[in-house]
Amino acid sequence: EKQGFKHFMLKEIYEQPGVVRANLEAYFHNSTDASVSPINLGLSESLYADLEQIHIVACGTSWHAALVGKHLLEQLAEIPTQVHYASEYRYAPSPLTPNTLIIGVTQSGETADTLAALAMEKERRQGQEAKYQARLLGITNRPESSLGHMVPNIISTLAGIEIGVAATKTFIAQLMAFYALALDLAARRQTIPKETVEQIINGLRQIPQEIEETLASQERLTEHLAHEFADTQDFIFLGRGINFPIALEGALKLKEISYIHAEGYPAGEMKHGPIALLDAKVPVVAIAVPGNVYEKVISNAQEAKARDSRLIGVTPVKDGEAAEIFNDLLPVSSVDELLSPILTVVPLQLLAYHIAARRGLDVDQPRNLAKSVTVE
Ligand code: M6R
Repeated sequence: EKQGFKHFMLKEIYEQPGVVRANLEAYFHNSTDASVSPINLGLSESLYADLEQIHIVACGTSWHAALVGKHLLEQLAEIPTQVHYASEYRYAPSPLTPNTLIIGVTQSGETADTLAALAMEKERRQGQEAKYQARLLGITNRPESSLGHMVPNIISTLAGIEIGVAATKTFIAQLMAFYALALDLAARRQTIPKETVEQIINGLRQIPQEIEETLASQERLTEHLAHEFADTQDFIFLGRGINFPIALEGALKLKEISYIHAEGYPAGEMKHGPIALLDAKVPVVAIAVPGNVYEKVISNAQEAKARDSRLIGVTPVKDGEAAEIFNDLLPVSSVDELLSPILTVVPLQLLAYHIAARRGLDVDQPRNLAKSVTVE
């Protein structure tokens, strides 16, 4: 069943182009009729009317996907969005406001904290108008799960079953769901021109091939780096804007399967404390994609280099300036910054995988972890 791969995690990383294709097919369609929206999530109309804000609850990797989602929902659809750890929200929920959509993100649909946060939210809406009670949405890879039974609206992420404890292809599928949802809302609210919506969808259609190219070019590079970093004790991952959650995700992947201490940080925050950690023994992985915050990330990376950290850049290859400052490169295609998280996460998954494999660890079943956390 591993189809020649040494571990399920590696197989699942390689399945990602196919997962993105499946999501593209399900969420978007080509229509010559201009009055038909190119996005079809099959959600109830009552979910959209008078929508003023969104709260998202999730845990772990799903929480990282939610942070990318927040960026998209705010920047494309202009809807104020907050992301909460489900384990926190269930005991300290935001004040109840009727025009608020609650989204629960959980690949398994069985995470106890996420289900409890949603159940609490569902219950306290009981006395309200029907349309407000309906404003619960689940994003899951298992629509038949407990989550599927609990909420009236579901976006199915179509990643196929994931066996490795470290979420990889289900994360990418959750990102796709958020691109579709944010574009759907942006199109309905006309916060961005129709042409931009189409342009973004066309960009998404290129992603499967770009992931394939990234996988092909990264396998050897990440294996090589894994060899050098197998005994490293601490790693820092830096990103900004839409790639800040990817820095968090890169750090989480490394922690959970290689047991190496890793922190993801918004690059601009380093100078407020964590920079004191840096020296030649602490490598820094910086995600630098041309766009809004590119120069900022490069200058933050330079500050790390000045503290003797070895700098690894997840960055498009063509850019000469970036190539110069980094000690090592994990190149990704030159893609629009807005779409880049679907690509920048791939080398980080491979890096974590190869480091863990090199250390001889049980990649698919890391210690102390379970695939779904069904207890509080
Ligand atoms: O099934 P869920 O998406 O609700 O799971 C949430 C977390 O437990 C999960 O993402 C966990 O952090 C993974 N092991 C990450 O790789």
